[in-house]
Amino acid sequence: MKNILFVASESVPFIKTGGLADVVGSLPKCCDKENYDVRVMIPKYLCIKEKWRNEMTYISHFYMDYLGESRYVGILQYVYDGITFYFIDNEAYFGGAKPYGDWFYDLEKFSFFCNAALSALPVIGFKPDLIHCHDWQTGLIPVYLKDRFHDGEFFRDIKSVMTIHNLKFQGVWDVKTIQRFSMLPDSYFTPDKLEAYKDGNMLKGGIVYADAVTTVSQTYAEEIKLPFYGEGLDGLMRARANDLRGIVNGIDYVDFNPETDAYLAAPYNAKNFRKEKVKNKKALQEQVGLPVDEKKFLVGIVSRLTDQKGLDLIQGVMDELCAEDMQLIVLGTGDEKYENMFRHYDWKYHDRVSAQIYYSDELSHKIYGGCDAFLMPSLFEPCGLSQLMALRYGTVPIVRETGGLKDTVQAYNEYEGTGTGFSFINYNAHEMLNTINYAKSVYYGKKREWNKIIDRAMAQDFSWNTSAGKYQELYDWLIG
Ligand code: GLC
Repeated sequence: MKNILFVASESVPFIKTGGLADVVGSLPKCCDKENYDVRVMIPKYLCIKEKWRNEMTYISHFYMDYLGESRYVGILQYVYDGITFYFIDNEAYFGGAKPYGDWFYDLEKFSFFCNAALSALPVIGFKPDLIHCHDWQTGLIPVYLKDRFHDGEFFRDIKSVMTIHNLKFQGVWDVKTIQRFSMLPDSYFTPDKLEAYKDGNMLKGGIVYADAVTTVSQTYAEEIKLPFYGEGLDGLMRARANDLRGIVNGIDYVDFNPETDAYLAAPYNAKNFRKEKVKNKKALQEQVGLPVDEKKFLVGIVSRLTDQKGLDLIQGVMDELCAEDMQLIVLGTGDEKYENMFRHYDWKYHDRVSAQIYYSDELSHKIYGGCDAFLMPSLFEPCGLSQLMALRYGTVPIVRETGGLKDTVQAYNEYEGTGTGFSFINYNAHEMLNTINYAKSVYYGKKREWNKIIDRAMAQDFSWNTSAGKYQELYDWLIG
């Protein structure tokens, strides 16, 4: 039996701000239980819903010296769907209204978390063969495993994997600050280690010191070796190219299943979607206040509303997008400028645009189930999960060819009768618009072809099966 510990800043079902939480919560379940004991550790945020917090069991606590004070570290546990989750408790650090807030404070918070997570392991008595770290919040762990937590029986042989879900966020501040929070000696703050462009960089530490580095699609693994996508670390990514793998994310095929989805007005499958799917469309139109019209081309967006997601392309052609023969529904929160842009168009074209500026799991499922197409024109996209959900629900993705979008959506080819969606290459608003219009023309003009795209989309398999196998191969290779 190999012991694997995931350490991350969020995980479903407990706390989620983005796709990271879906991956951390769903991948462990899909590893082979006969050979791998995969457990997960995250902070015990006060903003985790009370119903979860009340059901956690207390395991132990201890005090840890951190930044000149003795700090409380509580350890709680919750077994969910057969997976053991550990929660690191300290209300001073994890008491906020959201998991992240102030950049500066987050650096201290997650430095504390990395120290506490490793210190907690001997107390729990779970000795991992490998710690799988996710994103900058856990970047210090691979460093510590070669330094502060290297000596002694317990920690000596623990391997580490660093997975990059988004290279844009690195945990950066001046060297003095990062050094203070990380409590690492001077020798670590050089350009080949934790220093980057004169600043301290926590993710860089993880990438330099981890035994292997992964990211969440093959295309993104290639892209981040280039300056445009490399966020300043492309040189490092090239230097670690031999230890860098792209493994595409999966999604939970039980949670996301149009045939059993309790949120849908009319569950459906790959055989009966031609008759049933439209019932979900009408229910959705009615719920969000759009004219109920089963013929109208209905496009959905479920997204964090940030620059990464290509929303400035949408903004650039929004008037053209709001053509008479189209309806658009948007669900999500994020930058105020995008929230207000969608609110404005909801007001301006009330019968064509519906802006739902909040987040709801339930409505997201109804959008995957009820829309005809799903738009995701990202500037960059390490993997992207929504397009996988859209494919699963036979909602045709329209994407930009970058990162995981490129790896998971095959462009429709009308001559060969292939493809599972529509895509465009350049980050250009009119290229996007043309592609949407092309999709629309197939939808209105060649309904049989459109339905065959849906056939092919729903026949894809983006469950975790294949990708979990690839992570297991990587674990085996490292643990030996
Ligand atoms: C981040 C990325 C997204 C990816 C997710 C899970 O949210 O932006 O592309 O799918 O992490 O890996």
